[in-house]
Amino acid sequence: MNVLVTGGAGYIGSHAAKALARARHQPVVLDDLSTGHAHNVRWGPFVHAQLSDSATLRDVLRYYQIEAVVHFAAKALVAESIACPLAYFQYNVAGTISLLESMLSVGVSRMVFSSSCATYGVPKHIPIPEDHSQIPVNPYGESKFFAEKMLEWMGKTAQLRWVALRYFNAAGADPEGELGEEHDPETHLIPSAIVAALGQRDCLEICGVDYPTPDGTAVRDYIHVMDLAAAHVSALRYLAADQQSLALNLGTGQGTSVKEVVGMVEKVSGRKIPTRYAPRRPGDPPTLVAKSELASRVLHWKPSWSSLETIVETAWRWHSVGRVVPTVAESTAVEGAIRA
Ligand SMILES: NC(=O)c1ccc[n+]([C@@H]2O[C@H](COP(=O)([O-])OP(=O)(O)OC[C@H]3O[C@@H](n4cnc5c(N)ncnc54)[C@H](O)[C@@H]3O)[C@@H](O)[C@H]2O)c1
Repeated sequence: MNVLVTGGAGYIGSHAAKALARARHQPVVLDDLSTGHAHNVRWGPFVHAQLSDSATLRDVLRYYQIEAVVHFAAKALVAESIACPLAYFQYNVAGTISLLESMLSVGVSRMVFSSSCATYGVPKHIPIPEDHSQIPVNPYGESKFFAEKMLEWMGKTAQLRWVALRYFNAAGADPEGELGEEHDPETHLIPSAIVAALGQRDCLEICGVDYPTPDGTAVRDYIHVMDLAAAHVSALRYLAADQQSLALNLGTGQGTSVKEVVGMVEKVSGRKIPTRYAPRRPGDPPTLVAKSELASRVLHWKPSWSSLETIVETAWRWHSVGRVVPTVAESTAVEGAIRA
């Protein structure tokens, strides 16, 4: 299958593109490189463009005879979304509208969408099932919730068939060392702890030690990026079999506190991490843990890389060992071919 991977130069999208290629699909990456990296695009053609460029989107969908879209492209930082909410609605909501319009106008009707546990807000109970109320507490979560609602309505009123995958905390790196988490600034816990262990930052800030959790720090459900990538391949297979559209949690059902993560990074790296306590970050709920049986049942998917130790080991290896960064074919050549 020829699959358009929006945001395929980013962290999760690049791992998914590799998994798609391994499963004998052709991933075509479309990315504006706002937070992604051209060197992450290695398993198929690359189009350097924004979601808002609907003319290019339509050309790409037609030129590559795309059959399904995996839609990762988004802004994805909670704190930034509170500082600049409109940018989040522009990229994540208007960007998705542009993509949906382009897809439907050329007859592409299948989408796997990157949603988030941030759509639940502060959960009323743990673990969180898919039918839990969705009351986001930050503009990022709200933008993902809006996008899910658009999929739902386009499923009811047009031909769209979709799976929204609500990831919990993506973590870890490609065990073959080709890809890893490379955000700038890095705000995610595991890479931040690793960078501190490597002495590349003074210390790790632990934001919030007064949460109502066993050790006072926030509890999250960490899911390995390889398991996320595999779920996208399964979701495409699910849609190809004409199954009903739905939203699925992707997590392990296990909660891990910030202090437990720091302890694991110290164990794997053999180094002490200097830490400093800081206030809670606005918009961060105390505990987010998935009820994840539905994805296992529907997609026949089971996390196999997501023990905390494997997550930290793969991330540590990627950050601490020299990375392989290949030369990338210039995207403009591809764009030129599309326009020609
Ligand atoms: N990282 C997590 O823990 C997590 C959790 C839940 C959901 N998600 C979702 O997963 C997706 C991928 O997240 P990630 O961590 O890989 O982030 P990322 O920033 O590494 O990847 C996003 C990619 O999208 C591209 N992009 C952004 N806006 C674009 C636009 N308008 N047009 C074209 N390209 C654009 C960026 O350049 C980048 O390559 C996002 O939709 C995010 O909301 C991530």
